[in-house]
Amino acid sequence: MSSIIKRNLLLEGKTKKIYSTDNPYEVIIHYKDSITALDGLKKDFLQDKGILNNEISTFIFKFINSYGIQTHFIRRINNREQLCHKVDMIPLEFVVRNIIAGSISKRLGVKEGTTPSNTIFEICYKNDKLKDPLINDHHAVFLGLISYEELNIIHRITSNINNILKKFFLDKNIILVDFKIEFGKDSKNQILLSDEISPDTCRFWDKKTSKKLDKDIFRSGLSEKVFNTYLEILKRLNVG
Ligand code: TMP
Ligand code: ASP
Repeated sequence: MSSIIKRNLLLEGKTKKIYSTDNPYEVIIHYKDSITALDGLKKDFLQDKGILNNEISTFIFKFINSYGIQTHFIRRINNREQLCHKVDMIPLEFVVRNIIAGSISKRLGVKEGTTPSNTIFEICYKNDKLKDPLINDHHAVFLGLISYEELNIIHRITSNINNILKKFFLDKNIILVDFKIEFGKDSKNQILLSDEISPDTCRFWDKKTSKKLDKDIFRSGLSEKVFNTYLEILKRLNVG
């Protein structure tokens, strides 16, 4: 495999950097060691956390891809980097909830841990100034962010991903409580699952003990426990 040359820094986010390559259709995504919550208000540096999230997200994207779902992921290059298809990100976050936790618990006054009889799908508008408000399909179309046709495709893929991942994690004795995914469009306007899927973007609870195995550890102030918690997820992925 030819070696990939990293060119210019195109974008730096809270936890990742994106670099151009000599191929205009491909980028390198670099996973940083930072962790943030509460819209960036709470921040920390956790040595080698980027290595874990790169590996976990690589594993999950390959798995999803094996079901024929198209993603931006091409291959993992090294500890901290992936080669991905270049996409224009759609500035929406698609959240799926299998169990009530986090913001919905506060917003609707429902106890954390409640199992709803239906799966709950939400959309947030990625806009720092507005603090990523919860919106619906009609708002997203009205804002010119996406079309109804594209939303239909994304809702179908999102529901598929939930079914695939729920079962996969349950086999590892992990409950997939909720997660957030993002999509982008490639040069041919194809919709690709993009960004990352990791304990930063999902809630994972141990099936037997309900122990939290995700970024809620950090949100509740236990930075020192984050690395080992994410490592535990990586180890469970690699078992079986
Ligand atoms: P929430 O309960 O804070 O709305 O989060 C629901 C799920 O989505 C949880 O697994 C965390 C993930 N998420 C992100 O990864 N980034 C975000 O900006 C938000 C709002 C949620
Ligand atoms: N929107 C929040 C953030 O900016 C989500 C979280 O608490 O993880 O990080």
